[in-house]
Amino acid sequence: MKPAAFFVARRVLPVAAALITAGAARASESAQPTAQPWTPVTLQTALRDLPKGNAAAGQKVHDGMMCASCHGTAGNASTLNWPSVAGQRADYTAKMLLDYRSGLRDEDPRARLMTSIARMMTPQQIADVSAYYASLPKPVAPQAQVALAALLNAAELQRVARLVRKGDPSRLITACASCHGLHGEGKGSTPAIAGQTTDYFIRTMRLYHSGARHNDVYKGMSQFSQRLGDADTVLIARYYASLGTSPQKMTKAD
Ligand code: HEC
Ligand code: HEC
Repeated sequence: MKPAAFFVARRVLPVAAALITAGAARASESAQPTAQPWTPVTLQTALRDLPKGNAAAGQKVHDGMMCASCHGTAGNASTLNWPSVAGQRADYTAKMLLDYRSGLRDEDPRARLMTSIARMMTPQQIADVSAYYASLPKPVAPQAQVALAALLNAAELQRVARLVRKGDPSRLITACASCHGLHGEGKGSTPAIAGQTTDYFIRTMRLYHSGARHNDVYKGMSQFSQRLGDADTVLIARYYASLGTSPQKMTKAD
């Protein structure tokens, strides 16, 4: 991590930790255990019913509602443990905010913090911030993430590239690229995962694995994460981290 990023993280982390505790307490008071799972049709309808988003207004939401304090200026998270939101698909961001709001995404105290934040947002603010994130370039990998990804040796890179592009029929794993795109750019409400922070990526895959994160429509991610195993998950997280906007030339799979 660059010294500047380190100081930002040191200043923001204690504030965020307090917010997470407060948020968890507030959200558990108002938790709605009856949050309805999506069907493809109800999801499509909910996304269509949102007002049209405006990226410039979304930037004001990002700054004004303190999203920037955790997700970083311009959507690049200041710690590897929190998700970057830059370059994310508008439909996916909107879906997550709706999922946090309804309590459908409730895997841990961090998710419940987002629940209390999402409940303060109007549908217009949700649409605007989603348009803003979609207008930004892919996340810029923090230095530490670049170094991690660069540690992939030739054999690891070959293994990951195969899993990502071809999947593994023997373990019934579908190629990640078939849904998340060849460069991790996502599609529709399937998220962009290129440049995503490694620790968050690994954590969320483990939460799909345990079933604690269960907000996806087809439950596909819980199946893939269970079949993948932890070692491959870590390799894949490092691989995708390297596909963000990089300050230096990265190892390429091709
Ligand atoms: C105190 C820190 C904090 C603040 C402030 C915050 N977030 Fe988050 N956000 C998080 C964390 C931590 C997660 C990951 C939660 C989890 O694992 O479910 C997250 C998750 C998200 C996600 C899902 C990301 C993904 O890849 O699935 C979106 C979208 C999001 N936040 C948007 C926002 C918006 C918009 C705001 C402001 C209105 C905001 N956040 C404010 C910490 C924060
Ligand atoms: C059949 C399509 C499909 C395939 C194949 C697939 N995914 Fe996903 N993935 C999704 C969808 C849809 C979501 C969003 C689910 C939700 O709404 O929470 C998702 C979510 C994710 C997330 C969470 C992103 C975030 O910001 O929180 C990660 C990480 C991820 N996938 C990694 C992978 C990896 C690694 C593979 C390959 C082993 C893979 N996916 C294969 C459809 C797919």
